[in-house]
Amino acid sequence: MKNTIKRENVTINDGVLFFDGFNTVELADKYNTPLYVISKNCIKNKCSELKNKFLNKYDNTRVAYAGKAFLNIQMCKIIEEEGLCLDVVSGGELYTAIKAGFPAEKIEFNGNNKTNEELELAIDYGVGRIIVDGTTELSKIESICANKNKTVKILYRITPGVKTHTHDYISTGKKDSKFGIPLDEDVIYKAIKEAISSQYVEFLGFHFHIGSQLFDNHSHLAALETSLKLVKETKLRYNYSILELNLGGGFGICYTDEIVKPYSYFLDPLMKRIQEFSDEIGLKRPAVVIEPGRSIIGEAGITLYRVGAIKAIKNIRKYIAVDGGMTDNIRPALYDARYDAVIANRATGDNTEVVTVCGKCCETGDVLIKDIELATPKEGDVLAVFSTGAYCYSMASNYNRNPIPAVVLLDNGISSIMVQRQSYEDIISLDVI
Ligand SMILES: Cc1ncc(COP(=O)(O)O)c(C=O)c1O
Repeated sequence: MKNTIKRENVTINDGVLFFDGFNTVELADKYNTPLYVISKNCIKNKCSELKNKFLNKYDNTRVAYAGKAFLNIQMCKIIEEEGLCLDVVSGGELYTAIKAGFPAEKIEFNGNNKTNEELELAIDYGVGRIIVDGTTELSKIESICANKNKTVKILYRITPGVKTHTHDYISTGKKDSKFGIPLDEDVIYKAIKEAISSQYVEFLGFHFHIGSQLFDNHSHLAALETSLKLVKETKLRYNYSILELNLGGGFGICYTDEIVKPYSYFLDPLMKRIQEFSDEIGLKRPAVVIEPGRSIIGEAGITLYRVGAIKAIKNIRKYIAVDGGMTDNIRPALYDARYDAVIANRATGDNTEVVTVCGKCCETGDVLIKDIELATPKEGDVLAVFSTGAYCYSMASNYNRNPIPAVVLLDNGISSIMVQRQSYEDIISLDVI
């Protein structure tokens, strides 16, 4: 029997795959395919772990869900219900949060090239924090605040110069990075001085995010040391006490066979070190914020497809084409991401063969899963791909003018549409005739 079948929230009844208690074949029939399916229970379980192992264990802490992983109006409402903050990185994400009525003070605004329009929207709405990503951003913020007679709380995102064991495209903390302020003496201390002396911003502290899909706490700890050095220097040079540290996200999930580390594996040593350091230099421990995205939503989602054309190339491989592909999941094409799947209507693990699952887009690289063992697929079967909650819907595109699939939410035995399927009319709706 394949390991996929042992996943949390997944059961097999009479050879049919059930996700969070729902018959996935019935979901595919009812809502059509491709279909993103999200389990609210799974999201809530992750939030409970964060509450038990972090928020309730350590005072003066916050969790800001990284909306880039998966965001829509209902997701904002779930995050609010769970008492978390929200990290947004664009005007579009911010607008979604505003329309969901997400409390402004619980929003943190990240991003490496925020436009004036986006900054104005954030400052008008009164977001809780702007994470400033470069030295020119501060002056943009100051002039907007001056015009509007407002102030805003900021942190500096730094580039800690830390390498991580993950794909290069999702490694963000190394020195050669478009993210963050480099730590060269003449750059970082000048920026800190400017922020401290600005009448328009309240400078709270430092932020780092070193990468995604991480299973080792060493990189977080190394980046923390760099931040702590800045905290110490800021006190020594400017007699200024840092009030907040944001340690980013990046906690890994299970796509195929990864052994997931609990949040406490990362957070306990980080919190211990911050407390020790604060005691050493006689500083009140700063507030500590984390920004998980993937680890909250990733395993809470699956994607259902219908199998279409099957093409066996003698002595080479057998292609199984599904009715979606790189338009609803760009990650395999973008950074060789690996996924696991099962034929949902024959999920017994018997009579299998090794096949390659491809999409329907006009790109050779439109391969979802290379060489996977599946119950011999037939046209019309339902294929369920696991762990597609993060960075799939949020990265979806209309390449080949394929409509973006619907998102269905499973909540305590009830399934409902969270985001509607795009229609062909939607696709041409902005075309000027
Ligand atoms: C600034 C920042 N915070 C948080 C995250 C979320 O990371 P993850 O989804 O791996 O937890 C990202 C991801 O790119 C990020 O850039």
